[in-house]
This record gives sequence, C-alpha cells and structure tokens, in this order.
Amino acid sequence: MYTQAMDLAPKEERKAVRTVEEAELEARFEARIDAGDFIEAKDWMPEHYRRTLVRQISQHAHSEIVGMLPEGNWVTRAPTLKRKAILLAKIQDEGGHGLYLYAAAETLGTSRDQMVDALHAGKAKYSSIFNYPTLNWADIGTIGWLVDGAAIMNQVPLTRCSYAPYARAMVRICREESFHQRQGFDSLLVMMKEGTDAQRALVQDAVNRWWWPSLMMFGPPDAESPNSAQSTRWGIKRLSNDTLRQKFVDACAEQAQVLGVTLPDPDLKWNAERGHWDFGPIDWAEFWRVVGGHGPCNKERLAARVKAWDDGAWVREAALAHARKQAAKEQAA
Ligand SMILES: [Fe+2]
Ligand SMILES: [Fe+2]
Repeated sequence: MYTQAMDLAPKEERKAVRTVEEAELEARFEARIDAGDFIEAKDWMPEHYRRTLVRQISQHAHSEIVGMLPEGNWVTRAPTLKRKAILLAKIQDEGGHGLYLYAAAETLGTSRDQMVDALHAGKAKYSSIFNYPTLNWADIGTIGWLVDGAAIMNQVPLTRCSYAPYARAMVRICREESFHQRQGFDSLLVMMKEGTDAQRALVQDAVNRWWWPSLMMFGPPDAESPNSAQSTRWGIKRLSNDTLRQKFVDACAEQAQVLGVTLPDPDLKWNAERGHWDFGPIDWAEFWRVVGGHGPCNKERLAARVKAWDDGAWVREAALAHARKQAAKEQAA
C-alpha cells in the first residue's frame, strides 16, 4: 500500500548547471515523455527525475514493509482459521510488494542497503497511516477496506507511470491490493450483518478511527503540494491528490451504506450539482504531526524494523558466505 504523500520532498533539489549536451538529452527526454513513451532503466534521464523516483519508490517500498507491522499484531488473535489464513496471505503480499519496489528503485542506481539505512536513520519516510495502532479485530477489516482501498486509488494510475520498471511492479501489486480491499470489506460485512451488537460496535469504532487518516493518505491538498506539478509533467503522477481523494470518498460513502456503518463526518453529503459527495475539512495539523514523527506509533514502528534488521543479520551473512563458497567452487571447476 502506498500514499500520494510519498512525494514529499525533504527540500527542493537545486537545478544543476547543464551542459549543451545535457540540454539536448533533456529535450529528447521531455519529448519522449510528451509522446507517452515509457522510460527504461538504461535510458538517459534527468537527475531530478531519477531522484524523485528513488524517493517515491523507496518510500513506497518502506510503506509496504512497515505496513506489515500493524496487521502482524493480530495474526495470533485472528478469530477463525479462515481469517488467519487470509491475514497471513495479505501480510506476505505486502512483504512481496516491498521487495518488488526495492528492486524497482535499485534499477535507478540506489542500493537496497542505502534505502534501508535511510529508513532506519529516520531520514526516509513511509506512509503515516502505519503510525496508528490496531486496537481491535475490526481494525484489520477496516485497514483492508479503507487503507488498501485508498492504496488502490493511488496505485492504479501508477501502472501508467512513465518509469517502466515502477509501472510494471504496480500492475501486479494492484491485483493483490484488490484482494486486500475485498477481504477487508468482506470481514466487516460479516461482522455487521451476522455479528452481535458488540461486534458492530467494534466495526464502528474502527471506522471512526481510520476514516480521517485514510483521507490523509492522498497527501496534502493540491494547492499545498509543491512537487506534484513536476511529477505530473513527467508522467509519474497521473491524477492529483484532491481528485483521487474525491474518488475515494465517493466510493466509500456508498460502500459504508452497504455495510451499515456511519462515516465520522457530519458534513458528508451527496452533492447532486457536483455529482460527488461533499466532505468536511481534514485536520492537516494532525497529518504533519504524524509525518514529523509524533504519531501514536512512530517510534515503535521504527524500532521494530531496526530490530528485525539486526536480528536478521546472521541470515544475510550466512547467505553471502554461501554465495561466496558457490562462486569459489564454480571458479575452481
Ligand atoms: Fe501492498
Ligand atoms: Fe495491501
């Protein structure tokens, strides 16, 4: 899963001084983008395009990996064997998404170790949504419905991203995200339609807590998203934050009626003139607080990732030692 908030740049990079040759290459690159061509790893690309992609794809990869943590919290407490099997499959998918994405980012010349180091040093971001806790079982269904649902909205346009390795990774990821969304919705539907009052109350409580952070997954409003224009021009981003957010609200408002839950927004109402659902103001101060490291679980998430990396050091060392031995054997043969 992923958010548009991924394209938050630390500071706008300076434009380097260009030679005539670079200017020509850049003009050719821009023409290819304008013609709707896909850019491959070996093609020439402007440094800024490369850096923007490394930042976005690596942040996306980190989000997939960190996103395994809130759900992992419920594997041992899933209510039935079926729900446990589904949850395990979903979490494994997210791990796989992280791996495809690290691999896609590596094609741009940044190693996985560099990316992981940046995450562990607190320099690289991941989606803020994963800094919220999973407090009851209905949180798991709600994450599938809303968080993976928002991820799909964000990610489907990325299958047409101008950088081909990223676009290709997204095709497979989107298919799996669709399963994630559906299993979440199904889990909530069972609780709402066949469950007890207490179970229905759990669903409503989870939806109340996840609704607004899910809307924040689309990133800041268009007017306050300075990197968006360049990303759109380069064909990295196909739809704006606000456009995607509106599509998501429209879809969820109707799905909420099917479920029988109330979305926690008194301003949510159908606007026949616009042909969309109106919704209330988003608390952007909260978004920036969580992005800035002060969400409920930021420290816990990062600590869990660092511990997993440290605990796995022996596996990486053993795999490298084995690879060296194999190579030596092959050379000797
Ligand atoms: Fe994912
Ligand atoms: Fe997912």
